[in-house]
Amino acid sequence: DPPLRDLADAKGKVIGTAVTGSRLTGTYGEIAGAQFNWLTPGNAMKWGSVEPARGSFDWAEADRIVDFAEAHGQEVRGHTLVWHSQNPNWLTNGTWTPAQLSRLMNDHIALEAGRYKGRVAAWDVVNEPFNEDGSYRQTLWYNGLGVDYIAQALTAARAADPDAKLYINDYNVEGVNAKSTALYNLVRDLKARGVPIDGVGLQAHLILGQVPSTLQQNIQRFADLGLDVAITELDIRMQLPPDTAKLAQQAADYKAVMNACLAVSRCTGATVWGFTDSDSWIPDTFPGQGAATPYDENYAPKPAYRAIHEAL
Ligand code: XIL
Repeated sequence: DPPLRDLADAKGKVIGTAVTGSRLTGTYGEIAGAQFNWLTPGNAMKWGSVEPARGSFDWAEADRIVDFAEAHGQEVRGHTLVWHSQNPNWLTNGTWTPAQLSRLMNDHIALEAGRYKGRVAAWDVVNEPFNEDGSYRQTLWYNGLGVDYIAQALTAARAADPDAKLYINDYNVEGVNAKSTALYNLVRDLKARGVPIDGVGLQAHLILGQVPSTLQQNIQRFADLGLDVAITELDIRMQLPPDTAKLAQQAADYKAVMNACLAVSRCTGATVWGFTDSDSWIPDTFPGQGAATPYDENYAPKPAYRAIHEAL
């Protein structure tokens, strides 16, 4: 029975997983290395992880993941350069002029994307810029620099690593809705202005039984702009505990997501946000929910694993 990555490789597609660097040994490391052809650091490349105190850097976990990926013939999705969350306190709590903010952002991108130049195949340059109604999220960056922070960030990322594919990534943009339409209008305008942008990331933190019916149509409209589309953080959560019926529904949902992506040639593939329920953010963030990944807490493959296998 071939591993997922062999099936994905044969189709030129991504089957990725978010990983925690400290766990990349034993069974966790074996599965991460054997089954997936791309890795995304779940937290290790976020600003708060890499520069906890101003000017004091910790690249250990990020380096470990990039080294592991190279040792296993895997590509890396860098996540993420510019976001409103998981920033260091010194940055969040500081008072900055627009010029200072711009300098901080540009220097951060130059440093981090520059450090991994040639080793990160795609960057989530800007993460979660929109509100649900399609307006811009009021963040440190938007409030200080206006919407131009996005073009500035993309331009800085291109300069730092010209070969990396540059993405804007968000959640609740899987179906056609106000938020995904705002993202569509943004990337269309960026492309028209010649701002470097290669793709959009659809996080796909989904709820059991709620794969948007317009997923494939939405992927297609971005592809029609000449952009790549990646499913970047796929998980499908359920009310705990899982049972046979829920796990069967989850498998059908995973298959539907994979099939929608595979139906569009510019959909590069899918990354799951943790491959095991023991390494998923869901129970901490959505109390009472979980079992969202393709392997259970004991690394046993679930029906969802089989569904991904069958789709690839
Ligand atoms: C999550 C991580 O998985 C958790 O470990 C952390 O505590 C919070 O962030 N959207 C994103 C990811 O872009 O970076 C988030 O990751 C999940 C939601």
